[in-house]
Amino acid sequence: MLPPKIITHLKNITGEENVFTTTADLYTYGFDASIHHRSPEVVVRPHATRQIQEIITVANKEKISIVPRGAGTGLSGQAVPLQGGIVMDLTAMNRIKKIRISDLYCLVEPGVVYANLNKELAKKGFFFPPTPGSGDVCTIGGMVALNASGMRAIKYGATRDYVLGMKVVMASGNLVTLGTYTLKNASGYQLERLMVGSEGTLGIITEITLRVFPLPTKRTLALATYSSLKKAGEGVSAVIAQGIIPSALEIMDNVCIKAVNKAMNLSLPNKEALLLIETDGMNATDEIQKIAAICKKTGADSITFTEDEKEMQQLWRGRKSVLPSLSRYGDNYVSVSLADDMSVPISQISKAIVAFQQIATDHGIIIGTYGHAGDGNLHTKVLLDPNSQDQWKQAEKAVDKIYHTVLDLRGTISGEHAIGISKAPWMQKERRTALQTMENIKKTLDKNNILNPGKMMQWKGSIISYLRYPWTKKEK
Ligand code: LAC
Ligand code: ZN
Repeated sequence: MLPPKIITHLKNITGEENVFTTTADLYTYGFDASIHHRSPEVVVRPHATRQIQEIITVANKEKISIVPRGAGTGLSGQAVPLQGGIVMDLTAMNRIKKIRISDLYCLVEPGVVYANLNKELAKKGFFFPPTPGSGDVCTIGGMVALNASGMRAIKYGATRDYVLGMKVVMASGNLVTLGTYTLKNASGYQLERLMVGSEGTLGIITEITLRVFPLPTKRTLALATYSSLKKAGEGVSAVIAQGIIPSALEIMDNVCIKAVNKAMNLSLPNKEALLLIETDGMNATDEIQKIAAICKKTGADSITFTEDEKEMQQLWRGRKSVLPSLSRYGDNYVSVSLADDMSVPISQISKAIVAFQQIATDHGIIIGTYGHAGDGNLHTKVLLDPNSQDQWKQAEKAVDKIYHTVLDLRGTISGEHAIGISKAPWMQKERRTALQTMENIKKTLDKNNILNPGKMMQWKGSIISYLRYPWTKKEK
């Protein structure tokens, strides 16, 4: 517990109703959607930038750690407070402050939910495209902090490609404005880019200027089935190599298909693999037909497409529910986020997927593979009995092999869910020549190391710690 005078101080800043200290609240705020957990000592929910400045000033003076969080949908432990301390819930800062279509930008607070922003933008015929799987609930601040993306990144890019500028409260309590309201900016260091992907370790983002994009006039969606996972992977690179960039190109293996059919009561074809391919814009129909021909030629068993809004939604519903559905695959397993979002060069997709399956077999564990194959970003989920220490150990070994495969293929260990805790040891390998620079930047901006300490380059040891599951010793 923090000293009562600190709690009183926080209450004076935000109002008593925005400071939480009950055991239940603290326990709840110790989770995100990752495998990790640790309870904070206090949760505070600011409503204004000024309050954030005051909170951070107290934390810095007293050397108390502070971990900002949005909706808690992060999959790698970014929002888990390793040192206890303060968790700052930013969901009350959820105003869309401006939508300026004629300037192609909008201005939002960090707690705005992705889907809510797109609902408002759609009224004007525009959208913010990255389309994360958790888009109905995740917040823009979290997306920026992790450089999140999703289904449509292949054509439209990731969050970083839309961030024009932001306001950030630094560890000192100073409020700085980074970037611009213009589409172009060559005016000095691109510090707003440095904040993208900083995972709450460099400052607290309180306002974001995002570029917006016109909604496409039309969308089509194709479903291709394969009796070989390898062939499906080859189909992906064949499509891309033809110079047609679909607005989404997703893959699902048989484990994922079965899980979704069972959990969602759907009837996706029970094949070795599926590709879901979306095209958009005026040439959508023409493009999907060309893509269908390529898939047929390169080994698809069947391909069908639709422009019917309801049918498309149904297929997307299947795809978006892979993650939660995997926990229903078998009675004794849950799906855990380990090695969950690596990216490889697109032409290496097939090799990567085949290698992941072999690694699963070698270690006697079940791995489901799916994801944004069109841009080279794959999700694997390990299915295991969370109470079996042995299975965790096997999984950790398998994950190590998966990451080495990915690095050998010139990939990266995280394409979209970022580092947090779960991927830290492998990020440290991948970025070993940059680690000292990262740490130097952190020290310069956060001398007392109060902002989300212990993550990314600062993590030490095995990722099988601070687990949310019962067999591990829970910290107090
Ligand atoms: C998805 C999330 C897990 O693509 O990134 O479903
Ligand atoms: Zn994803």
